Amino acid sequence: MNTLTDGPKPLRLGNREAKIPIIQGGMGVGISLSGLSSAVAEEGGVGVIATAGIGFLEPDVYKNFLPANRRALEKEIRKARNRTTGILGVNIMVALSNYADIVETSSREKIDVIFSGAGLPLHLPGFFDLKEDHPALVPIVSSGKAASIIARQWQRKYDYIPDAVVVEGPMAGGHLGFKLEQIEDPAFALERLVPEVIEGLAGFRTRDGGPIPVIAAGGIYTGGDMYRIMKRHGAAGVQMATRFVATHECDASDKFKDSYLKATERDLRIIVSPVGMPGRAIDGDFLQRVDRGEKQPYTCPYHCLIPCDYTNTPYCIALALINAQKGMLSKGFSFAGSNAYRVDKIVSVHELVESLMAEYAEAAAGEAGK
Ligand SMILES: Cc1cc2nc3c(=O)[nH]c(=O)nc-3n(C[C@H](O)[C@H](O)[C@H](O)COP(=O)(O)O)c2cc1C
Repeated sequence: MNTLTDGPKPLRLGNREAKIPIIQGGMGVGISLSGLSSAVAEEGGVGVIATAGIGFLEPDVYKNFLPANRRALEKEIRKARNRTTGILGVNIMVALSNYADIVETSSREKIDVIFSGAGLPLHLPGFFDLKEDHPALVPIVSSGKAASIIARQWQRKYDYIPDAVVVEGPMAGGHLGFKLEQIEDPAFALERLVPEVIEGLAGFRTRDGGPIPVIAAGGIYTGGDMYRIMKRHGAAGVQMATRFVATHECDASDKFKDSYLKATERDLRIIVSPVGMPGRAIDGDFLQRVDRGEKQPYTCPYHCLIPCDYTNTPYCIALALINAQKGMLSKGFSFAGSNAYRVDKIVSVHELVESLMAEYAEAAAGEAGK
């Protein structure tokens, strides 16, 4: 086995190129900030700062929602930049009430890539000149149809084609773009979705004339998984999140990481989040109290997510997630991908990437030797 010749090809995102085709998935409310993202970028992957709830790091978030979020994001991007010259992105949920403000701040801070999902990013805010240097723009979708609708709309309205598309399948952590009954349905498995998205984007070409790179997310755990989704199903790279939680550099508290170490397969469950979407999380007291109908009363001074009807939801998702991030798991819960129960130790990002690359090369050598 030769890790150099059997390794994966670099990943092109607009005019940037990641040496290894691994994107660290954005993990909201403080799980992926400057610490994790800069470590991944330093290893040659794409490190992503999640912007959802980033303002919770600031003491005045309740009074000054917009400026607190903007300030926290500026600080995290600058901290990450000081640690790496690698590729850094932000993850911005379309459902955020401060979506446009966060896009503008990220672009002003010269972020390399903007990933946007949790809703269809059909409109590009007019903060950057699409003919000049600007962040690469990468929508996150859960179907071939959504991918082609976005590409068609951007081409027609902005004369612009997405620089890549992430397709997130139902085994991912956090909010899922599927109906409850689709989550276990093999018709929605990632291995089916990737070729469907490639097909949906077949008529489009990026600025350099190539096909739009399609990146697979949700349940990719080993370098072997990465090899199979790329070589057999045509993905240009992968987005992984759960594995990156179990690293020293992940920005969550040790107690949050412990919840992954302790989780068994049966603890991973689907919730219906207050924003009306299903989500995958680790079960615990908090979620069981919600199941029993014990509402957690709260007030909402900032309205962070557009689809959240706070007058009718049992708890504040932003607060529950920030409590978990800080380690107060009796007052919140951890989002996690379907493979979180397989996590059995905390390693460095360097060790993780090295083992993924070795497993990838091993799978490639195994296939070549058949
Ligand atoms: C703790 C956690 C938080 C997440 N937060 C976000 C988020 O804020 N925005 C988003 O688009 N995806 C979010 N995701 C999804 C990931 O970015 C990623 O696409 C997905 O989890 C990949 O599957 P994997 O965890 O099996 O690798 C989150 C996932 C986890 C585990």
